[in-house]
Amino acid sequence: MNGVAGAAIQGACAFQGGMSIALPHPETSAGGASLREWRALPPEGGRPSEVWLRCVCGRPVGVRHAGGRCVCGSRAAEARQGVIELAPTGYWGEMPQPQMQRMLEAAALDWRRAIAEYAPEELQDYVPHPHRAAFQDILPAGPQSRILDVGAGLGAIAATLAERHWVVALEGVRERALFIALRQQQQRLERLLVINADVRRVDFLPGQFDVILLNGVLEWAGVWDHQRSPTAMQLDLLRRLRGWLAPGGLLYIGIENRFSWHEFRGAVDHSGLPYTSLLPRPVARLVCRHAQHYRAAVNTGYRTYTYSHRGYQRLFERAGLALRSTHISIHGYNQPVELVPLLAEAIYFQVRSRALPSDQWRVRLRQYLKLALAREWFWRWFGGDFVFLLGAAVEERNDA
Ligand SMILES: C[S@@+](CC[C@H](N)C(=O)[O-])C[C@H]1O[C@@H](n2cnc3c(N)ncnc32)[C@H](O)[C@@H]1O
Ligand SMILES: [Zn+2]
Repeated sequence: MNGVAGAAIQGACAFQGGMSIALPHPETSAGGASLREWRALPPEGGRPSEVWLRCVCGRPVGVRHAGGRCVCGSRAAEARQGVIELAPTGYWGEMPQPQMQRMLEAAALDWRRAIAEYAPEELQDYVPHPHRAAFQDILPAGPQSRILDVGAGLGAIAATLAERHWVVALEGVRERALFIALRQQQQRLERLLVINADVRRVDFLPGQFDVILLNGVLEWAGVWDHQRSPTAMQLDLLRRLRGWLAPGGLLYIGIENRFSWHEFRGAVDHSGLPYTSLLPRPVARLVCRHAQHYRAAVNTGYRTYTYSHRGYQRLFERAGLALRSTHISIHGYNQPVELVPLLAEAIYFQVRSRALPSDQWRVRLRQYLKLALAREWFWRWFGGDFVFLLGAAVEERNDA
């Protein structure tokens, strides 16, 4: 991927104009019942069309498109305009809220047209294109799998996967959740359930998802609570998701490499500035404090931490997750159409197969360099975006 494409993809992961949200810490225990007890409850007996939440009384409640009522009589989940409304976050997004609302009104008639008319240039392909879910080739997920898409955005991935799987699209911003619901209705995706909730406040029953997707979200966890370190917030999120994985389930993460060659070539980081991911964190914070183009509304200080491959591995281990595989997404994690396993042979094969004969010495020199650097260690340190597949680490499964 060249630098320009890299910058465009990073741009699609940027937020603008929203308000900063500070919410209480997530509840880590499951109210009345301990997590161990929860594991003994459904979903084994449940239908895949239901997602299981915890009622305020502590009992599990199956929730469907129409919502869900607990045996205690309380409505654990209300459905409005096709969305299960639980605990929304504040607004934030690539476009200002009034523009988003105009897009929503237009989407009530035709969501594709609304994108074409109102969405910024970099979202035109990002939202409707099924290639956003092209990574499903590396997911060993059967047709009836239950998938949770955390921070589902405008539903590009969730809507595509719902053609074959049971998908829960969990999205914090109300306008975005409503947009996904409009897609769901217009595309008649019966197996897609849309939930509007902050991932930290939704109380899913543990162990119910075969696959959980976290695409372009982990790096933002640090801005959710400015009183705690970004790494602590990321660990909280990962541990929470690990608890929701069914036995043998997989967590899919698409995220930037902190030291990728795109960053060295000046791709815009989540701060809105180039090069900030490469700096030591305190220096990045200092730069951000003084820079004019720094995106401060939600990212006060430098809080959008990305890591090296080794850094991610350490983070995952601390969260009780075991890394099953790493791929480099050649066109960025938002366009996962060419995923190269982080293995010497696969990397060499990929570079070799792209090298075309040429008379121009510049092209030949570039190809020679690319081949010389087609090494596992080089791609691990400086390759483009990462795509990780993780499972719950065995020794960690019973420690909740
Ligand atoms: C960069 S976008 C990625 C969207 C989507 N995963 C995709 O790849 O198209 C991050 C999304 O996460 C959502 N999000 C951020 N914080 C959240 C939270 N605490 N709970 C739920 N969703 C959240 C944002 O509203 C946004 O839609
Ligand atoms: Zn109840």
